Amino acid sequence: MRARHVLVTGGSRGIGREIARKMMQGGDIVTVLGRSEAQLEAVVGAGDAHHYVVSDITCEKELDNAFHRAVAQAGAINVLVNNAGGSSSARFADMAMDAFVQAFRLNVLGAARLCQLVLPSMVERRDGRIVNVASTAALRGYTYVSPYVTAKHALLGLTRSLALEYARYGITVNAVCPGFTESDLVRDSVERIVRKSGRPAEDIRTEFARFNPRGCLNSVEEVAVAAAFLCGREAGAINGIALPVAGGEVG
Ligand SMILES: NC(=O)c1ccc[n+]([C@@H]2O[C@H](COP(=O)([O-])OP(=O)(O)OC[C@H]3O[C@@H](n4cnc5c(N)ncnc54)[C@H](OP(=O)(O)O)[C@@H]3O)[C@@H](O)[C@H]2O)c1
Repeated sequence: MRARHVLVTGGSRGIGREIARKMMQGGDIVTVLGRSEAQLEAVVGAGDAHHYVVSDITCEKELDNAFHRAVAQAGAINVLVNNAGGSSSARFADMAMDAFVQAFRLNVLGAARLCQLVLPSMVERRDGRIVNVASTAALRGYTYVSPYVTAKHALLGLTRSLALEYARYGITVNAVCPGFTESDLVRDSVERIVRKSGRPAEDIRTEFARFNPRGCLNSVEEVAVAAAFLCGREAGAINGIALPVAGGEVG
C-alpha cells in the first residue's frame, strides 16, 4: 500500500507533534508545519516527522508558500491535520474586539485556507482525510476565553459543512475535541492566571482537572490516538463528527 503524505500544522510541540509521531509509526510520510524552525528541526531530528515547513498560519501568503513547499518535498497531501491553534484570556468586558479577529485568524482561517489548498488533489484522487483539532470549546462555553470558544465553534461549523460538500468524493472531514490536555498551551494558561490572580499554580491545575470527570488532564497521546483513528484509511464512513477526548466532560 502506498504511503500517504500527511501535513500536520502545529506539529512542533504538544498534541500536533504526538499526532505526527503516531502517523509516522503508521507508515505515512509526515510533514510538520509551525513557526519555530529550531523546534521543527528537532522534531525531524528525533524521527517524529520526515519533513518540515516553516509558516505562520495567520499569514495567507506564507501559508500558501509553505503548502507548495510541502507538496514539492513529498507530493500531494492525502491527509491534512489542522492542529495549530491557541487562546488568549480576559473577561469579556475587557476583551479587545481585535482578540476575536486574532482568534479567528489562528483557529479558523488558516485551517480553511489549507482545506482549500489540499482539496483539489483529494477530489481528483477521490480520497482524502481532513481532521480539525477543535476543542470541547467547540461544544460548550468556558468563562474568560470567549474569542477562543467562538472560533472553535466556527471551526466545527467549517468541519460539518466541508464534510457534506466533499463526502461524494471519498473525502472525510472530522473534528477531534480535546478537553484540557497536558501541553504548553495549558502551562501558558496556568502561568497567565497565576500572574493575574496571584493564586498558586497547583490550585489552577486542579480547577482545570475538575472539568474532566476522571479528575485529571488528558495526555497528548490520548488526543493523538483519536486523530489518527479519524485519519485512518478504514474510517471512510465516519464523516462530519466532533469526537470529544475529554473523559466524559461532554457527551
Ligand atoms: N492543550 C489543551 O488543553 C487543548 C484543549 C483543547 C484543544 N486544544 C487544541 O489543540 C491544538 C494544539 O494545542 P496544544 O495544546 O498542543 O498547543 P501547544 O503545545 O501550544 O502547541 C501549539 C502548536 O501550534 C503551533 N502554532 C501556534 N501558533 C501558530 C501559528 N500562528 N502558525 C503556525 N503554527 C502555530 C506551535 O508551534 P510554533 O509556536 O513553533 O508556531 C505549536 O506547534 C490547538 O488547536 C488547541 O486549541 C488544546
